[in-house]
Amino acid sequence: MQVTDAGERGMASSSSITAESVAVVTGASRGIGREVALGLARTGVRVVMVARDTPRLSQSAAHVSATASGAPVVALPADLSRMAEVRRLAAEISQRFPRIKVLLHGAAAILRERRQTQEGFEATFATNVMAPFLLTHLLLERLRAGAPSRVIFFYGGGRASFRLDDLMSARRYRGWTAYNQSKNADVMLMLELAQQLRRTGIAVNAVLPGIVNTEIIQGLPAPLRLVLKLMRPLLRTPSEGASAAIWAATAPELAGVSGKLFGSLAGNPRREFELPRAVRDPVRRQRLDAYLGEVTGITHRTA
Ligand SMILES: NC(=O)c1ccc[n+]([C@@H]2O[C@H](COP(=O)([O-])OP(=O)(O)OC[C@H]3O[C@@H](n4cnc5c(N)ncnc54)[C@H](OP(=O)(O)O)[C@@H]3O)[C@@H](O)[C@H]2O)c1
Repeated sequence: MQVTDAGERGMASSSSITAESVAVVTGASRGIGREVALGLARTGVRVVMVARDTPRLSQSAAHVSATASGAPVVALPADLSRMAEVRRLAAEISQRFPRIKVLLHGAAAILRERRQTQEGFEATFATNVMAPFLLTHLLLERLRAGAPSRVIFFYGGGRASFRLDDLMSARRYRGWTAYNQSKNADVMLMLELAQQLRRTGIAVNAVLPGIVNTEIIQGLPAPLRLVLKLMRPLLRTPSEGASAAIWAATAPELAGVSGKLFGSLAGNPRREFELPRAVRDPVRRQRLDAYLGEVTGITHRTA
């Protein structure tokens, strides 16, 4: 299996996945992330699976390795709502793996009640936005060493509302709104990183998995949960939901493609979607980037 060029179109030459190639997948203990880990393990890459619940993560890692014919899999537990944990995780990954081919940000939560972490951040924003921002920046050297390499975010596809003046939902909290806001922030971050990393051989894209029958649905408001319950036979399986992400992580035809949203809705598994105008605004994107730099302590950008 080949993972080919990333970064600026035509810039890097193609390179094969080798035994040293590493793919880091967060949110890999269940749902879509676990299926992405399995799909990547089948390509021969060493998969580093990250999630919070240690026993469940270990079980999933064993399942992925066994299903992928004994593929090398590493389980690294970390609570990504805590930036100290993100830093500890990044240090361990950096120390153990010199080159990273794929970094896929699958971990996310929908929290019905507002929760503040011990570090003082709203937990949805911390897990879904701050952690991918911080982890990507802390692993940039390793992604650069693995270039052509790919960073992938998940988009939610919900309402494109976004309140830059209340990113931690301090004034008003609704779980579904906070989640949507975090997913919009993720694609703004994706666009910003794609721009900042355009000459590094690191491509950054996002995927839309469709509506997938996973545990995250339990965090939705009751009426939405009911609708999805009635629609259950129509929902995608985690394996179907993972297909766009696996493709975005490995497809040779995406060599050099960065700053795009791909998805698998409407029968076409490899469709490019236009991002909503609200998230494309470069000024808002830069404000978000500056804010994230401030709250995570990433002041010096190495790109
Ligand atoms: N399902 C859908 O319809 C849908 C639609 C659009 C986008 N997405 C996106 O797809 C991605 C995967 O979602 P999913 O549906 O597969 O959800 P899921 O089944 O609920 O899985 C979420 C994963 O995130 C991990 N996670 C949550 N909080 C964490 C934390 N604080 N620290 C570390 N790991 C944490 C969970 O691990 P633990 O159990 O260990 O906490 C789990 O592995 C998410 O980014 C989601 O936004 C899903």
